[in-house]
Amino acid sequence: MNSAQGGTETTGRLRVGVAGIGYWGSKHVRTMRSLDSVSQVVVIDPSEERVAKLRHSFPEVDSYPDLESALPAIDALVVATPPSTHAPLACAAMEAGKHVLVEKPFATELRDAHRMVRTAGEGGVVLMVGHTFEYHSAVWALREMVARGDLGDLYYLDTSRLNLGLYQQDVNVLFDLAPHDISILNYVLGSTPTSVECWGSRHAHRRLEDIAYLRVCYDEPHVEANVHVSWLDPCKVRRMTVVGSSKMVVFDDLEGEERIRVHNKGVSERDDSADLTMPPMSYRYGEVVAPYLAFNEPLLLEDEHFVDCVLTGMRPLTDGANGLAVVEVLEAAQLSMKEHREVFIEEVRRSLRVDDEGLLGTAALVRREAV
Ligand SMILES: NC(=O)c1ccc[n+]([C@@H]2O[C@H](COP(=O)([O-])OP(=O)(O)OC[C@H]3O[C@@H](n4cnc5c(N)ncnc54)[C@H](O)[C@@H]3O)[C@@H](O)[C@H]2O)c1
Repeated sequence: MNSAQGGTETTGRLRVGVAGIGYWGSKHVRTMRSLDSVSQVVVIDPSEERVAKLRHSFPEVDSYPDLESALPAIDALVVATPPSTHAPLACAAMEAGKHVLVEKPFATELRDAHRMVRTAGEGGVVLMVGHTFEYHSAVWALREMVARGDLGDLYYLDTSRLNLGLYQQDVNVLFDLAPHDISILNYVLGSTPTSVECWGSRHAHRRLEDIAYLRVCYDEPHVEANVHVSWLDPCKVRRMTVVGSSKMVVFDDLEGEERIRVHNKGVSERDDSADLTMPPMSYRYGEVVAPYLAFNEPLLLEDEHFVDCVLTGMRPLTDGANGLAVVEVLEAAQLSMKEHREVFIEEVRRSLRVDDEGLLGTAALVRREAV
């Protein structure tokens, strides 16, 4: 691992560039600046207006209009630019020996995701994806409950990420919002899906789908998840429900105090269900518990983890393979939406052309390592 590139060898601290200082990148600037192991944060953005705005909060920050001119001043890069620029910026930085944290969506095409993973491997640099929810204490609690079997047999999962949202220029709602839900599902279930069905439609935007529904199927554990994402909904919703035979859990990210609520509720078929004078199901209503969750800021933990990985050579929790696994599902969902059919993840893996043998070899390796 090349943790000593560009100056860290002597100082043990990192110079971090943040490419894209819009809504989300400016938060990375704040969190990176708060870390002791970061000696300097520089910003990279062609928009003079954005740079001037950021200088209100951070007057002394150095800025560059493009990545190329910033390269000598950084050891590591956060890519928080529009999604279609993620792969070219990340690869250019990694080819120059820089470590990279790429925001979601990791890439807008599976081919690009493979290229990024391969470039990181060849350059011996850290590549991490900003799947922020994997650094969220409520999501850790969900994963623990599922792993311990607290909920009984898993029946299904359901997620909703809705709002009168910010339309993106270069990706539809599927690539903008569903990466969060897919990364949470993969993390909570400790698995990746085998197939996906997706239905989406365009309303307010002529070219980009603004609502989408996904059915994501996992084999191990054998369970399905329904994902609803929308930029065109009157209500802001950030909710995930996990329903099991013993208990049901709701994670509502808009609930300040009680983000996780465990409902000790259940429904089961009556033993005497052949008796048509009786209702077919019996219901169990128990207590609702909101477990204590340690307060943390997921983005701060994520940035801290990235810097630690660069300085120690540790493999990131959300590494390139993690990002690639989510892009596989997005690409399968996009195809499903287009062709109105279930798409198996294996199919999109195979669809990378035969002349990409090197890429496919890397992908197989990455998946094996991820198991
Ligand atoms: N992890 C999360 O929870 C989360 C939340 C919001 C956004 N995001 C992601 O962060 C990224 C940025 O989203 P945003 O809402 O901040 O977008 P934004 O439009 O507010 O900001 C994008 C910025 O990138 C700049 N930019 C464009 N091309 C560039 C280039 N080649 N080099 C440097 N800068 C460039 C633009 O000038 C702009 O300032 C997206 O990928 C988005 O999906 C992640």
